Amino acid sequence: MDILDAIKSRRSVRSFNGEALFGSNRKILMDAVEQSSSPFGGNVTIRLKEFDIKDGYKPSTYGMIKGAVDFFLLGIGDDEASALTAGFRFEQVVLKAWQLGLGTCWIAATFKGSTFDDGLTWSDGEKLKVICPVGVPAKQSMMERITRLSLGSKNRKPFGELFYDEDFKHPLSVESRFGVALEMMRLAPSSTNSQPWRALVAGDTVHFYYKPQSDASVLDCGIGMCHFYEAEKYRSHDGKFFKAAEIPVSHESWKYLYSYKSNL
Ligand SMILES: Cc1cc2nc3c(=O)[nH]c(=O)nc-3n(C[C@H](O)[C@H](O)[C@H](O)COP(=O)(O)O)c2cc1C
Repeated sequence: MDILDAIKSRRSVRSFNGEALFGSNRKILMDAVEQSSSPFGGNVTIRLKEFDIKDGYKPSTYGMIKGAVDFFLLGIGDDEASALTAGFRFEQVVLKAWQLGLGTCWIAATFKGSTFDDGLTWSDGEKLKVICPVGVPAKQSMMERITRLSLGSKNRKPFGELFYDEDFKHPLSVESRFGVALEMMRLAPSSTNSQPWRALVAGDTVHFYYKPQSDASVLDCGIGMCHFYEAEKYRSHDGKFFKAAEIPVSHESWKYLYSYKSNL
């Protein structure tokens, strides 16, 4: 499965088969963590921890996650750079897991932190802000089906509502130069499926903004920008993220994040 197929077919998985990861998959995932990178800086630590759920100890996801034994734990700094990097780096691992046939679910709200990071210490300024089960998907529980329905998890906003062409009056066409990469951003997972990412294409540059929806909006944008960048890389398009000196003025409630200049 190539990266575009992984992005298109991925969904959050909340029901697992109750088995620990095979050693080979654990190694591939740990390598993916090591190799994951981000241009945004900040402080992020990603750990993979196996829980002995048969012994009666259960990390608490308030019943949201069933049958998971292995969880990623993300220690993230309190600044914008750390949130972007957490999204950008860890989504690379999520996509690798999906390519291995493993399910994951980003979880920033529905977990009890003390039942996960008992005994663990984090680097200065980092806190456990996200956990993510990983394992072989099982048949969806009733709770999972209801959660997906209530979040509208299958749905995404229309392309032309999110991405603009030269000014904020003209919706971008999906057929344009950055159409494929921005379509991959559109499909990204986000907290409560809020899809905060917005972008303006100006010539060979894409300016990224977000519409604040929750504390996780910048992290969500890191995930979306990971999908964008993976699609650019896959198509052998070279480019770089940078902070623009002059930022096109957007809708007043949107906040500027980063720009990407293509070297094509
Ligand atoms: C940063 C982030 C935080 C999330 N937090 C939770 C959570 O606390 N509980 C939960 O059940 N799902 C959580 N999700 C999963 C989203 O609800 C899910 O990605 C969204 O509904 C889209 O569905 P999909 O991932 O199946 O495409 C989170 C997703 C992201 C990206």
